[in-house]
Amino acid sequence: MALPQYSLKVPVSQLQLGMYVCELDRPWEGTPFLFQGFPIQNAHDLRTLQETCEFVWVDRRQSHTVTPLSASLSAGAQAKTYAVDYRDEVKTTEPVWREARAVSMRMLDAVKFGKELDVGEVRRAVGECVESVLKHPAATLWLARIKQRDHYTAEHCLRVSLYAIALGKALGLLPLELEELGVCGMLHDVGKIKVPDEILNKPGRLTDEEFRLMQAHTTYGYQLLMANSEVPPAAVDVAHTHHERMDGKGYPRQLPAHRIPFKARIIAVVDAYDAITSDRPYSEGRSSLEALRVLFEARGTQFDEVVVLAFIQLIGVYPPGEIVELSTGEVGIIIGFDAGSKLKPRVLIVLDASKQPRPERVLDLARNPLDEQGRLVSVREVKPSGAYGIDIDAYRAKGLVVPG
Ligand SMILES: [Fe+2]
Repeated sequence: MALPQYSLKVPVSQLQLGMYVCELDRPWEGTPFLFQGFPIQNAHDLRTLQETCEFVWVDRRQSHTVTPLSASLSAGAQAKTYAVDYRDEVKTTEPVWREARAVSMRMLDAVKFGKELDVGEVRRAVGECVESVLKHPAATLWLARIKQRDHYTAEHCLRVSLYAIALGKALGLLPLELEELGVCGMLHDVGKIKVPDEILNKPGRLTDEEFRLMQAHTTYGYQLLMANSEVPPAAVDVAHTHHERMDGKGYPRQLPAHRIPFKARIIAVVDAYDAITSDRPYSEGRSSLEALRVLFEARGTQFDEVVVLAFIQLIGVYPPGEIVELSTGEVGIIIGFDAGSKLKPRVLIVLDASKQPRPERVLDLARNPLDEQGRLVSVREVKPSGAYGIDIDAYRAKGLVVPG
């Protein structure tokens, strides 16, 4: 198709009122548009374009946007690059995550069958995770949101390790300390191997005796890790103390706050966050936002306040991978945000207002999109993972195709 040199290819997520559309990415026939070339005059035009096309060509000479066209498009181009880079980052970090997951499963198996724990292997996997978190923090945390029910404990250990590394970095720990913290995360729950599955996976309330056995995973973990001279002392300590509380009411020893190591305070926070946001036999996973609220409310009593506040800052209100319902009723997955727009994320819309699947499109809330009534589109509600049957992992596998 021959296009005039003054036309610009623009993804529909970056269209603005006043832009003059001179060509579509498909034949005009079969689209709802009467004229083959028109200015975008209202939210309805904008929405129809976004629902019909992935990108269009805009005639620069005939466009009259509020912000200069070049400025708005170069900002848009940056956003696009960010999204594509993000996809690449996920591709780069995924093998690291897969390997670490395999190590986590092998590690638990070894403990289960009474074999020697290969601490060197755990260290190596964690070392790669540290590198990944330092280089690609957003993509690594996105991977931490992938959850498969059947390997809960192994994946939980890995996710706790990844979150802990990211949080440790935010709290100013040095790379070597981050590695040690990551190992603490991987090993914090090994004692659960000695707790019967019927108790770990019991759908209802635990009896007092069952609860006591469950709590004993801290002591089991301590004993198991103490027996291996390769395990760093910090990891032995964390396995023992990650359920102690700042108000001295934790278990197994009801330690006062000053005796709870800093690394255990970090693991306690990320451990609780992952448990609250995961589906368990006894409770459905809750949204990230709800989990952060629970942590915030328990700051100072159960958890270290400084650690909780740093974690809330790190995860943010709208972390990538979270499912959100918009004010339009549409449902999408958060795929990122630009620096400075943490409260206005980019959303990959996957369901329409009646919650039916629709061709995916990216809506960047930082660009203040309007709905049909001309109102600003916003996030109405953050949903728990798996809401409406949306499988985030399937979208990740598809590479989160971003138009443009
Ligand atoms: Fe635990």
